[in-house]
Amino acid sequence: MKITVINGTEKHGVTYRLKEIFLAEFRNKAEITEYYLPKDCPSFCTGCVNCILKGENTCKAAEKIGKIEKSLLDADLIVMTSPAYVFHATGAMKAFLDHFAFRWMPHRPAPEMFGKRAVILTQCLGQGAKSAAKDIKHSLSWWGISKIGVFTGALMGDIIWDKLSEKKQAELTRKVKKLSQKIANEDYTKPAHTNLVTKFKFYFCRVMQKSLHKNDPEYLDGKYWAQQGWLGSVRPWKN
Ligand SMILES: Cc1cc2nc3c(=O)[nH]c(=O)nc-3n(C[C@H](O)[C@H](O)[C@H](O)COP(=O)(O)O)c2cc1C
Repeated sequence: MKITVINGTEKHGVTYRLKEIFLAEFRNKAEITEYYLPKDCPSFCTGCVNCILKGENTCKAAEKIGKIEKSLLDADLIVMTSPAYVFHATGAMKAFLDHFAFRWMPHRPAPEMFGKRAVILTQCLGQGAKSAAKDIKHSLSWWGISKIGVFTGALMGDIIWDKLSEKKQAELTRKVKKLSQKIANEDYTKPAHTNLVTKFKFYFCRVMQKSLHKNDPEYLDGKYWAQQGWLGSVRPWKN
């Protein structure tokens, strides 16, 4: 199986440590590709909306985004990590997610995403890990992913792993391992089940795209939906 990891920080700190604990379960059974933010996606979205209106290849960051996207689409499991920064995902993670606005369901979602599995790992000192995970989950779900596992941790003592009590280290390790074992037990020969919420979002966007395509057959998003067969009877999910 293939795993693609998007690290929301370059720091080899607590987030990194928890991600390594998570990946340990997969080390001898998966091909793992990792990206570190902001290094691997250093540019901000400038708001030119070229990706949406003219195509993703017209983005100034197209080369870097395209490479990461290919890796995300190839993956059986996507892992996204971030510490909480002022109650949210890191700015680097937000900048990364902004570049994928064109892949939100109201635009041109990738059919591969509907059968994919993802995991989000976030942690914080006291509070904010949950809202940081929510930031990421919001994008992943609008990309079409239904099966999203979430780990959120609160360090409650120090932000340096080695300064945490043994009890706290053991608690975090146990919880991350529990999640990784659960995710490793998934049957990756089959696409993940697409849930009702995702299907509802798809049908809502379909109504919009149908009308947009009727009014302007050259409008990129509508054309894409028509080409996928989604304005007819084809659906991006298998189950
Ligand atoms: C800029 C910044 C903002 C942070 N904001 C929060 C916060 O809102 N709530 C919180 O509990 N911890 C906060 N933290 C702590 C981090 O979430 C995290 O626990 C800490 O950076 C250790 O993780 P790391 O080694 O992966 O960076 C913040 C840290 C930084 C550097």
